[in-house]
Amino acid sequence: MSIKKVGVLGCGLMGSGIAQVAAQSGYEVVVREVNQELLDKGLGRINDFLAKGVKRAKLSQSDMDETLSKITGTIELSDLSDCDIVIEVIIEKMELKAAVYKELSEVCKPETIFASNTSSLSITEMASHTNRPYKMLGLHFFNPVPLMKLVEVARSVATSSESFDTVYEFAKSLGKTPVKCNDTTGFIVNRLLVPYLLDSIRQLENGLATIEDIDNAMKLGLGYPMGPFTLLDFVGIDTTLFIADIMFEQFKEHKYAAPSLMRRMVHAGYLGKKSGKGFYDYTSDPVTVNELGI
Ligand code: CAA
Repeated sequence: MSIKKVGVLGCGLMGSGIAQVAAQSGYEVVVREVNQELLDKGLGRINDFLAKGVKRAKLSQSDMDETLSKITGTIELSDLSDCDIVIEVIIEKMELKAAVYKELSEVCKPETIFASNTSSLSITEMASHTNRPYKMLGLHFFNPVPLMKLVEVARSVATSSESFDTVYEFAKSLGKTPVKCNDTTGFIVNRLLVPYLLDSIRQLENGLATIEDIDNAMKLGLGYPMGPFTLLDFVGIDTTLFIADIMFEQFKEHKYAAPSLMRRMVHAGYLGKKSGKGFYDYTSDPVTVNELGI
């Protein structure tokens, strides 16, 4: 089966990145948000990213115009009906996903493949809410989507080989490197990343070193692009906590147990870059370490 038209359900940070990358790779893209305001915000994010790319001479103005011309925004789910694949990038709540997959099953043509960008929820459970479990996969992108090369392609026990191969090739056609994994909580990256991030917070709580020194150690000692606290702020401390809680619930292993400091920071509204403060304070210029009362 060949993919020509791509539906993206959700135009937040990840959805807008996925819509952009698909359009840049030559696909016709329909991206759906729940209301016009969120849609405009998401489309604006795509425009800004491409404009920065033009400024940096990473692409030409005509490439940008062509990419934008391939993207149609909508607030109607039914506009995804004739897409060959729909990539779902909505909020990580199973009840909401279940409702959306029921509706998608009704509106989409029988051939449409469903792929979820979930980072920790069960693909098999989502598939049970569709009328085509064999055409349902995980397709997990990384933030920032246009710059990160990896995509995890997760197969559930019910996914057909044909659907898997189609989506694996589709991921390659986006200029990404796909890795194959089974539908287990956290796939490959979060299974290894989440314990590392949680342990970094535990070491901070234990007084091992300062936020800046731990970040510099991991960045400069291992060549990681960001230290653990910069990465936590970048991904979102609340988002990481949400994933950790799901993983703990699933595996009941201490390595997935969220440290108390993390929970307290989320209660305090220190969510990371998006809220202005996390382990660092982004409201000051230059960015400083957030003085946490620990
Ligand atoms: N258009 C085109 N290219 C652009 C661009 C744009 N708007 N903005 C940046 N770029 C290019 C730059 O030109 C540069 O290219 P070259 O290397 O060829 O010069 C490259 O992208 C990097 O850009 P910058 O120099 O501005 O930024 P940087 O070097 O500081 O890197 C980063 C930024 C890519 C985000 C890097 O810090 C990084 O890789 N961080 C780690 C991110 C990460 O781990 N993400 C995964 C999070 S986990 C997740 O997402 C999943 C989950 O389930 C939680």
